[in-house]
Amino acid sequence: MVQLARDGGHRCDPVVFAFEQALEARPDLSIAVTAQGLGGVDGEGREHQVPVPRTRTLTKSTDATVVADVNSDLTCQAGPASPQPDRALARAQREIRDELVDQFEGGRVVLPLLSESVQRVLSALSDDRTDARALAEIIKRDQAFAGHVLRVVNSPIYASTSPTVSLQQAVSRLGMGRVREVALLISMQARVFAVAGFAVELNAIFRHAIATALFAQEIARSRRRNVEEGFLSGLLHDVGKPVVLQAIVDSKRPAARELRADRAAVWALVDDLHGLAGRVLAAAWSLPDAIGDLIAGHHDVHARTPSAHVTRLADSLAHFTLGDGTLDEHDLQSHPDAAELNLYPEDLDAFLARRQAIVGAAGVFT
Ligand SMILES: [Fe+2]
Ligand SMILES: [Fe+2]
Repeated sequence: MVQLARDGGHRCDPVVFAFEQALEARPDLSIAVTAQGLGGVDGEGREHQVPVPRTRTLTKSTDATVVADVNSDLTCQAGPASPQPDRALARAQREIRDELVDQFEGGRVVLPLLSESVQRVLSALSDDRTDARALAEIIKRDQAFAGHVLRVVNSPIYASTSPTVSLQQAVSRLGMGRVREVALLISMQARVFAVAGFAVELNAIFRHAIATALFAQEIARSRRRNVEEGFLSGLLHDVGKPVVLQAIVDSKRPAARELRADRAAVWALVDDLHGLAGRVLAAAWSLPDAIGDLIAGHHDVHARTPSAHVTRLADSLAHFTLGDGTLDEHDLQSHPDAAELNLYPEDLDAFLARRQAIVGAAGVFT
């Protein structure tokens, strides 16, 4: 059976091209797209391999060339098959990129602030003398925040079986360290993932962040690593995206107006700069440097610390689980970060068995 694969995130649709080829080659079979790829089934229900011409360019999609290699994979190779992007747009994109890099590196960007209550919680957590009762007292002073904390603690994210009704109970059940996660999660939703005109996309990115956090904590737990660090870096790894987006929206330059007219160009710039922006935000929020480094380098394949492997693998598991089409099961089973973490296929299966629960938990805020 022909396997389908995607190369380096290039978007093309090999299924469609392979489908057409397969229909042409074997009109006697009914061709079906399965989870594994393309299959041909005859009148008696027997499966057949579908012949596809060996290593031949089938056709060109908008941004990639599709090549078929029988007995192997259909792959998308990067290639400028589409017409050159508009030069004026490319210029505008470069100008705004330079402006934003300057702002982020020079500390001249308006960043979402943490609420006073969250700041108080975070600084109390860095003081060894703070106990659960004192922490609950700080949270209680801000009614809205207290309500959010109880909602999160009772959500499937923390998989509580019996309802938590008091803040002190919430704090002692979670443990002091995890109160930091809850405070950041609430701040992210209220203050960061709120850019006018981009609600749908940001909602999806926020769901992805929660799913990544939950997978990262599972992976960290199974590798006997710091679970809280895993959760936090998963939760925050793409936090730079809304920050870049807000900066593009706020820019007064004529080039920014030109850029905003093309949503794909906006998202390309967001993708490009989100690691940098995330690190700046993490520093502004006084998060540990280790978290800032993980955020900044989560797309850098040269970042080879165990924590980087955990975050990247969790990121991929979340993409697969939320079905955005950038990965398939084959990609996961051959994931380089899984190998680096000494994870076997059955370990990955165990993480994937949590998919349903994680999708449910990620949907809590949406
Ligand atoms: Fe990312
Ligand atoms: Fe991500």
